[in-house]
Amino acid sequence: MLHGRRVLLILSGGIAAYKSLDLIRRLRERGVAVRAVMTAAATHFVTPLAVAALCEDKVYTDLWSLTDESEMGHIRLSREADLVVVAPASADLIARMAAGLADDLATTVLLASDKRVLIAPTMNLVMWAHPATQANLATLASRGVVRVGPGSGELACGEIGSGRMAEPAEIVTAIEQVLQAPPALPSRASGGGEVGGRLAGRRALVTSGPTREPIDPVRYISNHSSGKQGHAIAAALAGLGADTVLVSGPTQEPPPPGVQLVPIETAAEMLTACEAALPVDIAVMAAAVADWRVESVAGHKLKKDAKGPPMLRLAENPDILATIAQRANDRPRLVIGFAAETEDIVENARAKRARKRCDWILANDVSPSSGTFGGDRNTIHLVEGGTVEHWPVMTKKEVAARLAQRISEYFDRP
Ligand code: C5P
Repeated sequence: MLHGRRVLLILSGGIAAYKSLDLIRRLRERGVAVRAVMTAAATHFVTPLAVAALCEDKVYTDLWSLTDESEMGHIRLSREADLVVVAPASADLIARMAAGLADDLATTVLLASDKRVLIAPTMNLVMWAHPATQANLATLASRGVVRVGPGSGELACGEIGSGRMAEPAEIVTAIEQVLQAPPALPSRASGGGEVGGRLAGRRALVTSGPTREPIDPVRYISNHSSGKQGHAIAAALAGLGADTVLVSGPTQEPPPPGVQLVPIETAAEMLTACEAALPVDIAVMAAAVADWRVESVAGHKLKKDAKGPPMLRLAENPDILATIAQRANDRPRLVIGFAAETEDIVENARAKRARKRCDWILANDVSPSSGTFGGDRNTIHLVEGGTVEHWPVMTKKEVAARLAQRISEYFDRP
């Protein structure tokens, strides 16, 4: 799906710039035209020559180069792409973007651009946690900038924590998701990481969308989940100030601004991404995880032949909700699951809550007549211990807002 798309890649200064070389290679393999802009700091980490060789195009570094400006003005540079990707996005470049500076080619291009922007931040963990960086990220999110990563792990500075740039494969998947989705209109209600909101200081994990379980390199098993409910919940939690990680399968939904998107395809990848996001205070598992995967995925495209159709042996996928709800040392304080039912909705949801050991279950009627799957409305029964709350029919955004409200009340209690 990326073939023929155009990406303007901005590299700022960070050791992770070496990973951007692999990112360019992967994009080129998929038929993406990559044009690169490097900040002065970036050129200390990787050479413009290496970037140009991989892009098979000229690399732009200088706002004041007469030849560059006459052959490709900075306005044209910013408008010709389908998407602007900033990888690595350093703390400094994020700050300059948030302030709207235009003091070098990279920031001038970003300010002159009317295209969607995806950033892949990387920095030391203390810089990442600094209120200035977090405020800058919230500002960018409120303007619709989408973020992929950072992940946690050992950083180049030797410390361990949040700040590693997302892996090139994750950035490619995020690019696919952003380009697939219609542009998100930045609004207060759709996230933006309200600084000082009621969930400020809390970390939330949300799963969304379907999973895709490969059969062979070109075929897969999946379902009709739209990701609308999960994405709306992530946006609502981020809107109340929660530091929100959204682990999502492929959807048409725009990644909500202000959340950290971790794009995945399979259930196994979803589980790994969820475990990597821990510790969190809140986990909301809204994804429609495929119950089964193909036991042995063919390495080549299966062919039609005289032997007739192939037999697919299925294996059970991990239950992500149950796994997270039963973690021994880092179980989130509030674990919330969904129960899509077509009959005995509340009874089945109660049984599911006990079996999976989550705290709340949002049961919803997904019988075809309800129009829930893929639609914009949802009828929720919130099963919490012995009590059940029946919510009126609402839009998925309203469900998300009410749930985020209920979650914040839960955390207000001592
Ligand atoms: O078992 P069932 O699929 O009905 O459970 C629904 C809930 O469990 C949802 O919250 C869904 O996200 C979660 N789930 C999961 N991993 C699975 C299956 C379901 O997290 N493999």
